[in-house]
Amino acid sequence: MVNKDFQYEGPDLNSYLSRTFHPEDDVLVQVRQAMEAAGLPEIQVGEMDGLHLQVLARTCGASKAVEIGTLGGYSGIHLLRGMGEGSHLWTFEKDPAAAEVARKSFELAGVSDRVTLICGDASEKLSEIEEHGPFDLVFIDADKNGYPCYLEWSEKNLRKGGLVIGDNTFAFGMIANTAGSLQPRDVKIVESLRKFNERVAQGGRFLGTILPTGEGLTVGVKL
Ligand code: SAH
Ligand code: DHB
Ligand code: MG
Repeated sequence: MVNKDFQYEGPDLNSYLSRTFHPEDDVLVQVRQAMEAAGLPEIQVGEMDGLHLQVLARTCGASKAVEIGTLGGYSGIHLLRGMGEGSHLWTFEKDPAAAEVARKSFELAGVSDRVTLICGDASEKLSEIEEHGPFDLVFIDADKNGYPCYLEWSEKNLRKGGLVIGDNTFAFGMIANTAGSLQPRDVKIVESLRKFNERVAQGGRFLGTILPTGEGLTVGVKL
């Protein structure tokens, strides 16, 4: 059988994708620059992953989405663009400095009226928005050890046909590591992300897959 494993890594791929799909406009470039100027870590989703979020949101007709891990608002803007007019995003960020940058980003992108930014620990604050559910999409991109709990919340608060999306589900290259040479801190992250992937794949609540993006993007549609 022809080998169809995920393996394309040509040096020209990313510039080809940028000039063909145009995942970023001036606003998104300015948002990234403002994040950098504010000293936030450069851990927002990649530009093509942002576009994946737009397409996924549009595909499931999302009008109510939840994001766990706002950072400077970069992925949130992608989600809101995918959802379009009349939609709303509830997004959680525990770092007040990042939340401040995100507020400005949403303003710049002209989407402030469609966002509720909740500053605090998502594991404590998610319950506050349940009254607005069920939701069409939950994007999980915060503390990796929290993914199993955020998935459990998603199972309860997504509508049938809604999407759960988890970023970084290749666990920074460690998800399939069986060599046993991980640092204690990484062991926890890998265990949590494996639990997350296994539950999306085998828990019976989702039809799930993992998109082989640079960092792994797990997607499950609620059954
Ligand atoms: N989704 C963003 C990137 C998020 S980076 C983007 O692609 O643009 C992860 C963010 O999650 C960080 O800003 C971090 O402060 C936040 N975070 C970590 N643990 C959290 C928690 N328990 N509750 C809310 N936010 C959290
Ligand atoms: C980290 C977090 C992310 O969500 C990401 O996409 C990349 C890196 C981090 O915590 O290092
Ligand atoms: Mg991420």
